[in-house]
Amino acid sequence: MASSFAGCKLHMRGKGSLVTCQQKIESYIRRNIGTNVVPAQAQTLPDDVSDKPAEYKSLLTVHAERQEQAKRSVLINLQHRITEKTFLNYLSKHGKINKYFFYESYGSYAAVEFDSRTSIASLFEEAVISKTNSELMVPFKSRMLSLNNLSAPNSSALSDKKLQPQNSIHINHLISRLSALKTIDQQITSLTEAYQLTEENIRLRFLVCSLVQDITATYFPECTVQLFGSSVNGFGKLGCDLDMRLDLDGISGKQKKRGNLSLEYVMKEVTSERTVTQHILSVIGECVEHFMPGSVGVQKILNARCPLLRFMHQPSGFQCDLTANNRVAVKSTELLYLYSELDPRVRHLVFAVRSWARAQGITSRVSGAWITNFSLTLMVLFFLQTRNPPIIPTLDHLKDLAGPSDQSVIEGQDCTFVSDVTKIPLQSNTETLECLLCGFFDFYSTFAFQKMAINIRKGTEQNKSDMSPLYIQNPFEPSLNVSKNVNTIQINHFVRLCQESVWMLQQGSDEPSATKPWGLANLLLPSGVGGIRKGRKQGQIFSKEMILSLLEGVQAPSKDETQRRKNVAHSVKNTT
Ligand code: CTP
Ligand code: MG
Repeated sequence: MASSFAGCKLHMRGKGSLVTCQQKIESYIRRNIGTNVVPAQAQTLPDDVSDKPAEYKSLLTVHAERQEQAKRSVLINLQHRITEKTFLNYLSKHGKINKYFFYESYGSYAAVEFDSRTSIASLFEEAVISKTNSELMVPFKSRMLSLNNLSAPNSSALSDKKLQPQNSIHINHLISRLSALKTIDQQITSLTEAYQLTEENIRLRFLVCSLVQDITATYFPECTVQLFGSSVNGFGKLGCDLDMRLDLDGISGKQKKRGNLSLEYVMKEVTSERTVTQHILSVIGECVEHFMPGSVGVQKILNARCPLLRFMHQPSGFQCDLTANNRVAVKSTELLYLYSELDPRVRHLVFAVRSWARAQGITSRVSGAWITNFSLTLMVLFFLQTRNPPIIPTLDHLKDLAGPSDQSVIEGQDCTFVSDVTKIPLQSNTETLECLLCGFFDFYSTFAFQKMAINIRKGTEQNKSDMSPLYIQNPFEPSLNVSKNVNTIQINHFVRLCQESVWMLQQGSDEPSATKPWGLANLLLPSGVGGIRKGRKQGQIFSKEMILSLLEGVQAPSKDETQRRKNVAHSVKNTT
């Protein structure tokens, strides 16, 4: 499985280091499989065993474990100054704590995972409703609590514990960090490390999803709320939205042997599944808006092709999208997760391309005629299928490798593919990340978008079935174009930027330099910054003011960063 990446490193380092390299890569892959996170930073109490080497886990297994963890967790708003020790002493009275961490989002919070759900019941026993204005409160009790410290009522921050940020670092800070590296491969892996979801952020995502499930359970006690999309598919960037799906499929009468008498539930009849979905989401929208602490700005977008509720959960800072049913999206999440686990280069390239596209205004947080991150990810996967030898297999090939337990038909569409990565043989492609990034830009600089469609099921381009400027066939709904929203201006903009980027990477002049952004850092400079791209194309050196203003865009630099900036400013001074 790891052979292609091993070969790639062999190419760079020489045969002598093959064994060490292979071991490193395999341990890298093992560490990342099943969690997709950087090593845990969450505080762990002594007898935690999570440092044991991780085995491969399917997305379903990861979901089950994380959901169970989330049900044993609470979110606590820290109203007053408190020491970590006092905090732990107080909470430990209610049972063993497995993990906890502190963070900031419109206030200071702690996410705490107990060892047992009985601890949550014990916390609820102790919690009171604020006396001062209890008559003005909605009497809905949730696992979001508030901890007051009467001995220090006038302070507002946690004093002795660093609050962990839940957002990605500023782009200028990233550019400056990448510029200090020696190779483009290092820059690409460093970008993934900076942007990928952290262990804490993943925990918070599952916890918020579990809090939403508590709301939906008031009507449908047997339902579950599942995460899908980039929160769990391996390609999530800090700050990405929280895609959730209300799963009502588990609600069914028990199948018993029928005698002469049988008892059935009486249920209302409806004309279509879409109508039920709209009604359910509408009612849950009311509950989220009026009962769920911390939720604001609830929008019911019920006439969309896939009806949804959108709201902001302030205590976590997540923008949440809640859909219902939407089974095919869960399949595409599983597929993307599988591809992200096949070869480390898949995630790295997707992160690099998505970050480049965001910096260049190709993608946007607001919806419109832009290319979406999901479309871009499919474009990267398609590109990797076309390499010689291919880095990842086609979806049809994954279907051929499927076993009986992988069979899946959703709404008449065959969504079968193998779920166990270890059954997927890979060919030994040895291309470096730099080569692949350059190859991606080159590939799409000349792609025949006017005539051809992208199809990851076949891994080859197909004739388009309509005149959409960009046609990316939905992997599980072949009649749908994932990028139907994209207009000609946007696809032309994308092609132009690909041409410019491949040109810049192929110019040998883009050498490592501590005094100017180079390589990937250069590609992340926003195209809107007047003259920067133009100047760079002509091979000009950056002005001192330009570099300083770029570096100063980063707020609250660390000690190391301050020193680095001084060095950069000093060396710029000496060269201008
Ligand atoms: N999806 C889909 N078909 C689409 C759009 C989305 O199947 N036309 C599914 C994909 O599984 C996608 C998920 O819905 O991953 C969530 O969509 P979205 O939030 O737009 O994309 P993400 O992959 O989550 O990326 P981002 O980080 O931008 O949120
Ligand atoms: Mg998303």
